[in-house]
Amino acid sequence: MIRQAALAAGLLLAGSSAAVASHGVDYPLLAERQASMKAIAEAARTIDWMFSGRLDYDSRAFKRAAETIRQHSGEALVSQFPPGCFGGHSAATAEIDRSREEFVALSNHLETFAAELSRAADEAPDQLTEDMRMGDRAPMGGSLLGRRPGRDAAPDPSTIPAEHIFHLMLEDCASCHAKFRQRVQ
Ligand code: HEC
Repeated sequence: MIRQAALAAGLLLAGSSAAVASHGVDYPLLAERQASMKAIAEAARTIDWMFSGRLDYDSRAFKRAAETIRQHSGEALVSQFPPGCFGGHSAATAEIDRSREEFVALSNHLETFAAELSRAADEAPDQLTEDMRMGDRAPMGGSLLGRRPGRDAAPDPSTIPAEHIFHLMLEDCASCHAKFRQRVQ
């Protein structure tokens, strides 16, 4: 009950930085979310290596990697960062509470892109196909993410080559880390 009330209060006062006191993160949660991030990173590396040819393309392994990212993103990722859950050995920043909408949006983008990559693997059971490749098409400057709602409508990700989706996905990692992750002393 007390925890519930504290959470509710934290949410109500989320606009004020002092309101959600950092009390550090419980160890199991911290270990769990850092392990999730490592799993995401390892999966992203697998996909990267398949696009770069360092690893032979295997649609099942590609799909498994995309699914790993999908399962650890979206709501699953957000739920590992409850209000006030930074400090101590965590590299998470207090910005997560102050800009929660942006944090959630980035996590959801990651999930959407991972789902797209998973689908792309289904459609290419034997080899990376030409239409999965970026080719000469210029990247679209990240507007796919639709960060400014109402301005550029976000193109449908299913029309974009998988390799390009993958690059946009890596931008999500970088954007989120730039704002919501810091070095731990
Ligand atoms: C929505 C925000 C968000 C996105 C998107 C995101 N991360 Fe993270 N990541 C974090 C935060 C916050 C931490 C710090 C967690 C902590 O220490 O409590 C972190 C930590 C990490 C770590 C360090 C884990 C450890 O052992 O301490 C790695 C590696 C990582 N992320 C890789 C990735 C990769 C690769 C992607 C993209 C495919 C990605 N992340 C996408 C927020 C994000």
